[in-house]
Amino acid sequence: MNSKHASINLNIRGITQSPTLAVNELSKKLEKEGRRIYRMGLGQSPFPVPVTMVEMLRNHAHEKDYLNVRGLESLRKAVALFHQQKDNVLINPDNVMIGPGSKELMFILQLVYYGDIILPTPCWVSYVPQAKIIGRNIRLIQTTFESRWKLTASQLEDFLKSENDMFKPRLIVLNYPSNPDGETFGDEALMEIAGIARRHEMIILSDEIYGQLNFEGKHTSIARYYPEGTIISSGISKWCGAGGWRLGTFAFPAHFEWLIKPMAAVASETYTSVSAPVQYAAVSAFRGGIIIERYLFNARRILQYIARKCVAILQKGGVRVHMPTGAFYLFVDCSDFRETLERRGISDSAGFCRKLLEDTGIAILPGSVFMRPAEELSARISLVNFDGAKALAMSETIPISEKLPDDFDRHCCSAVIEAMERFVNWLQES
Ligand SMILES: Cc1ncc(COP(=O)(O)O)c(C=O)c1O
Repeated sequence: MNSKHASINLNIRGITQSPTLAVNELSKKLEKEGRRIYRMGLGQSPFPVPVTMVEMLRNHAHEKDYLNVRGLESLRKAVALFHQQKDNVLINPDNVMIGPGSKELMFILQLVYYGDIILPTPCWVSYVPQAKIIGRNIRLIQTTFESRWKLTASQLEDFLKSENDMFKPRLIVLNYPSNPDGETFGDEALMEIAGIARRHEMIILSDEIYGQLNFEGKHTSIARYYPEGTIISSGISKWCGAGGWRLGTFAFPAHFEWLIKPMAAVASETYTSVSAPVQYAAVSAFRGGIIIERYLFNARRILQYIARKCVAILQKGGVRVHMPTGAFYLFVDCSDFRETLERRGISDSAGFCRKLLEDTGIAILPGSVFMRPAEELSARISLVNFDGAKALAMSETIPISEKLPDDFDRHCCSAVIEAMERFVNWLQES
């Protein structure tokens, strides 16, 4: 069949090659030429999967049957209890759904729920493509550096007023700590946004996949303030380092059977159920215990240490960046360098990242991928370019009452620090 017919017969909308791929391709090409590449575009946890989970996976390798489409009962119970204990939110295990990654559950949710998708930006790269594939109406709300890239209650109020339709079906996606900026909401902001959502009968999809990577271990879910309308999205990809295991969870409010049932119907006709051994292993993650808590404590301590060091270097170099509250990302705004960058032929975030990679070998992702205006000189830096196993092992030898020593980076994450110094030097070249 010739390509003309093939493209006419395609039944997907709005899908183009991701700029992430462009960065990867250029990185590979430069590497082949013998250049040193600092891989800071990836969104993958640097840490190994906790040993308890690996053991459980091994012990359940023989589980071969298809499981319940909504998920293994003991896992759904463990997820419900996890949200009760960690988030102080009562979840009925019958209202938990397990999917092959939270990404898939988000896709099915958008497929099944007919309503506008409201996205504060910067936002994670897949929300918009998913909504586009399904053909949902996407409404973006641009946040600002000054509000720490977080949606404010008054912004949301203004947006809803401008829409002139109080009860139109809407799904708002909130992600905190966030990819790409690591920022989270304070309690007051959560309460205010929850109040607005309640008044407008909006559904909140609360993407808390990085919740357990809040550096202080103090994550608060908006479900605490809007339990009747919040779906909590989580999984094992980020805080357990098990992205490739593909398991995500949705915890629905009571009386959401009307939504769970059609989602389960779609699941039954597509992926059937999540891998059985992985579900058994995930029970140990959600049940927690001393090994998981120790793992989390050290992971947070390392990530916070690295973020602090990098932020200090960037801020000293004149880059606008906030100290994040969790996860493993920094979102930088280099607009103060616009004049000199324009003289070097750089006028948008994609060009900025391309030139940075060509000149320095540092691979990061442009702000435009996260739905920021193309001309804004923003970008996401992933602080995962280090040996997580080595860093964890070292951190475990340091008492929990102590901070990591100042020279910790020299032993396990010198490349991250080196990249930040290169980045600043490159920016300051006139
Ligand atoms: C903000 C955010 N949400 C959801 C996901 C999807 O995670 P998974 O499908 O692995 O559960 C990711 C993965 O990168 C993410 O960064």
